Amino acid sequence: MTLSQRIHAAADFLSARIPERPSIGLILGSGLGDYADTLSDRIVIPFSDIPDFPQATVEGHVGAFVFGSCQGKYVVALQGRLHYYEGHSMQELTLPVRIMALLGVKQLVLTNAAGGVNYNFRPGDLMLITDHINYSGANPLIGVNMPEFGPRFPDVTDLYSKALREKIRLEAARQGIVLQQGVYMMFSGPNYETPAEVRMARIVGADAVGMSTVPEALVAAQCGIGVLGISCITNMAAGVTGEKLSHQEVMDIAAQVHDTFHSLVDLILALL
Ligand code: HPA
Repeated sequence: MTLSQRIHAAADFLSARIPERPSIGLILGSGLGDYADTLSDRIVIPFSDIPDFPQATVEGHVGAFVFGSCQGKYVVALQGRLHYYEGHSMQELTLPVRIMALLGVKQLVLTNAAGGVNYNFRPGDLMLITDHINYSGANPLIGVNMPEFGPRFPDVTDLYSKALREKIRLEAARQGIVLQQGVYMMFSGPNYETPAEVRMARIVGADAVGMSTVPEALVAAQCGIGVLGISCITNMAAGVTGEKLSHQEVMDIAAQVHDTFHSLVDLILALL
């Protein structure tokens, strides 16, 4: 099967199991996946049920599509995203975004855990992504273009829609949710960055570093899906405080911001 046939087959498989077409997609990052549990009338379809679908391997990431309603919208959430560092190609790990496009998704909310590069950030901060730097060394749009999804050379000038960000900032401020804003820089991982890499990231204009989100955002942009990105700053990036980094710390801080993160996603779904 070609990549395009696999995507269509998976979308048909999922379509046959849901009562309506989702208009909003959510991809939930490390420690943030339980937002999907709050959807009502949930239908959970594990990756392992879907023919020819890649499997998630990271601790803290359960692999499933979760369909359900929230804030009056029908939503599809990807619980347990696929990462480049797991060995998936960029084309494979963005299959869920193309599947979402075929299911009817018009807006995609991407969330992740990230290291803070900007000295004004603190662990536990939530950052709206304003733009990104693709430092992963790869790109999901490389390969034979599938014209049914969009153009060969997508424009990404306003990838993380400024108008939408402004609306969200206003409403978040009204609800007392403090939001940072900044540029997300993707490294392949799986090691955390070196202190020298983090200094470079700051010099080239990054505010946070992480190992995801950029591939999904690029594919969504190609498919004409609006993108919103939220980073949960779970730690200051390597070398900023001199402390060691750990996956446990990432999960602990993500757990601490749980309630604020949920309120923010609720607010976003209500506005979309
Ligand atoms: N670097 C990269 N990815 C991350 C980090 C980090 O410091 N924290 C959480 N995800």
